[in-house]
Amino acid sequence: MKMDSDFLRQALRDHLAWWGLKHFSSDRDYFAWQRRQLSPKDLERLALHIERKRKGNRRDEIAFYDLTAHPKIYPILYSQRCEYYEEIGVRTAAHLDQAKDVLDFGCGIGVLTIFYARLFPEKHFVGVDRSSASIVVAQEKADRLGLRNLRFECVDVETDPLSGSYDLVVATHALVQSEQDPGLPSRSWRTFERGHDPTQQLSFERRTGLGIRLDRLCRILNSYGRMIVNEKTRQLARRVPFQRALANRELKLAERPALIRYRTVEEVVEDGPFYVLHRGSEETMNWDEEPEQDQGQLFDLDAVSLSSGDVNVPLYENHRPSAQTAWEQLKDRDVMREITCQASDGRQVHAERGSFRRQHYLYCANTFDQRQLVIVEEARSAMLEEYYQEIMRGLV
Ligand SMILES: C[S@@+](CC[C@H](N)C(=O)[O-])C[C@H]1O[C@@H](n2cnc3c(N)ncnc32)[C@H](O)[C@@H]1O
Repeated sequence: MKMDSDFLRQALRDHLAWWGLKHFSSDRDYFAWQRRQLSPKDLERLALHIERKRKGNRRDEIAFYDLTAHPKIYPILYSQRCEYYEEIGVRTAAHLDQAKDVLDFGCGIGVLTIFYARLFPEKHFVGVDRSSASIVVAQEKADRLGLRNLRFECVDVETDPLSGSYDLVVATHALVQSEQDPGLPSRSWRTFERGHDPTQQLSFERRTGLGIRLDRLCRILNSYGRMIVNEKTRQLARRVPFQRALANRELKLAERPALIRYRTVEEVVEDGPFYVLHRGSEETMNWDEEPEQDQGQLFDLDAVSLSSGDVNVPLYENHRPSAQTAWEQLKDRDVMREITCQASDGRQVHAERGSFRRQHYLYCANTFDQRQLVIVEEARSAMLEEYYQEIMRGLV
């Protein structure tokens, strides 16, 4: 049965309310509610676990998810994720009609798994997670609803294989656990292209735990099965090795990846891409390894020459990847100073200060796709010198 997205969205909102999650659009209201529900000691404990989890250690990650499964904590924490659940839940549910046996990997407390099972009583769902406290909550909630088409298992796929055969595997925010991992650097500061070094790819898959998770999931996905994945891999340096990990396991794009955007209370989160993958033999679409397009790509050199009348306002300023296209158009530039070196965190950095057509510019680029071009009138060139010196100080 095909369900339209308005119906799915409303059903999901009702489901989130049943879980006791509240939708907030103001930080002030959200934090006031949080302070009423949790004591300063609870908040301190939570902050400590968040800090430990950041370091990416397996035991600390499990301890964090066990803590967040506590009935006092999960409504508070996951209320921030209401819009996330809506974005992911509605998109995923729209693909469920094609499947019979579905595995939700890293299901947490089962908020979305139970939603899917309620919507499709004729299909079978299994939720797996390595946080035992999360699995207890998930099973209790499913039992309360009397769901017979759903079960939960506590499994760590890094240490134990999965069993069964599925025609759909769903993994959202569960495959790449290292949120701080910068990803794969480009070949040099001049390009967004990544080389094809298998050692670097393997290192990314190992560091983030992606490789073993994907290998184990691919083993239980049947030959005509589909996979739905959504991770925080929006930055190109993470997106490229993530996509290569999928492609190396014969997973192909079934539809164009979707960029996801939602708010966690007031903060806008650029998430995804949301991938729907299949294992068929035909190659349907190419993987995109280019930076996301932005307005700055339409750079008009002649328009930049026009002064705004206020010398404090740069003639042009671009902090996006398209700054590279703009910089490449400054063909008759006179380079006054430049440096290319390895920063202490390993990234190659290039900084360049110069002039063209009596205007002054500063260009910075690095191998993690950061680009910056600022053009000012001659009278403001001292400001660029200050920025340049600041960059130099940051490099040593
Ligand atoms: C950020 S939560 C995401 C929960 C849910 N998928 C969602 O989208 O809201 C990540 C979950 O993945 C689980 N997880 C991470 N690595 C795992 C592994 N190797 N085996 C089983 N579960 C894992 C964690 O315990 C955690 O509950």
